[in-house]
Amino acid sequence: MKISASVLSCDFSDISKEIDKISNLNVDFLHLDVMDGHFVPNISFGAHISKCIKKISKIPIETHLMVSNPIKFIEQFGFSSTIIFHFESDDNIEDAIELIKSLSIKAGISIKPKTSVEKILHCLENIDLVLIMTVEPGFGGQKFMENQVQKIKFLKNFKEKNNLNFDIEVDGGINDITARTCENSGADITVAGTYIFSSENIEKSINLLRGKNG
Ligand code: DX5
Ligand code: ZN
Repeated sequence: MKISASVLSCDFSDISKEIDKISNLNVDFLHLDVMDGHFVPNISFGAHISKCIKKISKIPIETHLMVSNPIKFIEQFGFSSTIIFHFESDDNIEDAIELIKSLSIKAGISIKPKTSVEKILHCLENIDLVLIMTVEPGFGGQKFMENQVQKIKFLKNFKEKNNLNFDIEVDGGINDITARTCENSGADITVAGTYIFSSENIEKSINLLRGKNG
């Protein structure tokens, strides 16, 4: 299981120290939750702060755009290794994918809990990653929604049947227990914020998230 660490609930008054805590622990991605206060009921940070974070971290950046018009912002996040936008946003899906790929960045699409997975099946051939939200996007520290697990299983099955290559990632309420549920259902990557950064023993928590299969 790959691990993506979300900095959303970090202490931003000392973000270098927060990122230092995970920098030698083989975290696969640093997950940046960009929120515009319109697509989701919260504002987090934008490209400037994200670039500053990029400067102090060697971990590949995964940008999760929770904004109404992702196309307007994609180029500003050109330093990311992956850019994920929402299916429910106002922009044309194919145009957003094309723009991300034109920057040689991996393209991910995310769905909120109330969006059925069938709606995105037509664009999976061109996508590198699907992000299943297991909380309503907007805030860290929420409870994992078990009823979303069927989407992971469905996607895994669809991917194998159709010989597709995208990664399945899960975001929201991830801890050592819910990470196993995701893994057993077919997820490749889990995003964790609160579980990692509020842990007393971050190394142990990351190992627990990763599971015994590495
Ligand atoms: C929620 C964000 C998540 C969030 C996860 O809208 O997309 O990435 O930071 O936080 P935890 O791990 O606390 O649920
Ligand atoms: Zn996220």
